[in-house]
Amino acid sequence: NVIVLDFGGQYSQLIARRVREASIYCEILPYNTPMDEILKRKPKAIVFSGGPASVYSENAPVCDKRIFDTGIPILGICYGMQLMCHMLGGRVEPAETAEYGRAELVVEEEDGIFSGLEKNLTVWMSHGDSIITLPEGFRTLARTKNTPHAAIGNGRNLFGVQFHPEVVHTPRGREILNNFLFGIAGCTGTWSMKTFVEEQIRLIRERVGNGRALCALSGGVDSSVAAVITHRALGDNLTCIFVDHGLLRKDEARKVIETFKDKFHINLIAVDASDRFLKRLEGVTDPEAKRRIIGEEFIRVFEDEAKKLGKIDFLVQGTLYPDVIESGTQTAAVIKTHHNVGGLPQDLNFELIEPLRDLFKDEVRKVGLQLGLPEEIVYRQPFPGPGLAVRVLGEVTREKLSILREADAIVTEEVKKAGLDRELWQAFAVLTDVKSVGVMGDERTYAYTVAIRAVTSEDGMTADWARLPYDLLDNMSTRIVNEVPGVNRVVYDITSKPPATIEWE
Ligand code: XMP
Repeated sequence: NVIVLDFGGQYSQLIARRVREASIYCEILPYNTPMDEILKRKPKAIVFSGGPASVYSENAPVCDKRIFDTGIPILGICYGMQLMCHMLGGRVEPAETAEYGRAELVVEEEDGIFSGLEKNLTVWMSHGDSIITLPEGFRTLARTKNTPHAAIGNGRNLFGVQFHPEVVHTPRGREILNNFLFGIAGCTGTWSMKTFVEEQIRLIRERVGNGRALCALSGGVDSSVAAVITHRALGDNLTCIFVDHGLLRKDEARKVIETFKDKFHINLIAVDASDRFLKRLEGVTDPEAKRRIIGEEFIRVFEDEAKKLGKIDFLVQGTLYPDVIESGTQTAAVIKTHHNVGGLPQDLNFELIEPLRDLFKDEVRKVGLQLGLPEEIVYRQPFPGPGLAVRVLGEVTREKLSILREADAIVTEEVKKAGLDRELWQAFAVLTDVKSVGVMGDERTYAYTVAIRAVTSEDGMTADWARLPYDLLDNMSTRIVNEVPGVNRVVYDITSKPPATIEWE
């Protein structure tokens, strides 16, 4: 296995993901994890992540220096390399020219981490400091125009790269990481999603023991996968609760109940709580307030149901890594309060089980297939916890919800008919709070504007608007205005993320 020591870098999870993609088990630990904790795991290799600090600043995060004496292969990335250099007696200073973005790397030593690669490589840089002098015993392995020591090594087990091999903008990054993991560290690559599932089942059993757990089942891929993993671990000691908060899409509730109760034989309680939610949302227009209320109410409904079931200590949630990071970690600022993380009230009585917390969406899909979930669920597009409430802009009312449901069903149907549903990360309708004037059958209308949102994305963290065929857009628009009373105009959202987000609220 491999450990990523996290120095607060933006890409720590991405490094872990690349390691997992090489079929190697990977764990992320904070930079100040004690040595014996690290050694206990018998890592085959350690990767130091990047980080926002400067090694010479006062509170710069440092690791235990003895780690360099263990002989374990270490790859330092960006800050990780500078730290290695600094701690071993080299010098790091602010660079004359900071380097951000694409850079041309010239390889000087072609074996080791650059084994089998060309001499000139495109890499992705993001740093303000540079190495000025190398520690004793180190050599320069590659340079760029502005960075004379862009990759370094001691000829044995210690390596550093100033650029980011883990991002897609470093096209040969995967090979560089794999050279380190397989070539230098001798990893074997036998880990798989199957091992992941077994490991999670073991961890859940260990934690829950004979206790009982509740699972928030929404029918989306995340909570479905979390529920099935937990069901495998606990059997009937898991009760799933499906809350219909009245903010679901057309026919959604019925389908979820059929699938999990009838097909999977999971202990499922379906609660129709729509009145409760809609009452609390009355008059609320602020997006963050809406999200908070729904998150809170969700947990309250759970608590009420849980009370009826007797003593239950654990709550299972399908939280993914992007949800965690966008709700604000040490390094990332809060962008939206995600329903399953930041929205939890303080007086929560459950302990959380989050088996998918370290995974990206496409990894969860692989786990789902591994678990034998039907493709229909595994490839379902993501749907936010707060549901249609974040797609009905402004106040949420039953009338607006029912308009949106019909429009959204048309978007979904047409996208599927065009065979694009798997290619798109998401495609849905938004009911804007804008009314405009139209003319239908010689009559003036004054009705709502529906926006269509369709995006492509790898992981939901960034996204591009989908270049949908005009004919498809035309079909959707024509059908929506003709079939959905209360709508007389359809627009298409052509913004990427960033600067916009995928959802409108
Ligand atoms: P945004 O709108 O932040 O969305 O660009 C990124 C992805 O996350 C989904 N999303 C959520 N998922 N709870 C969730 O489980 C939420 O509160 C939530 N808000 C947004 C969104 O649909 C997109 O796929």
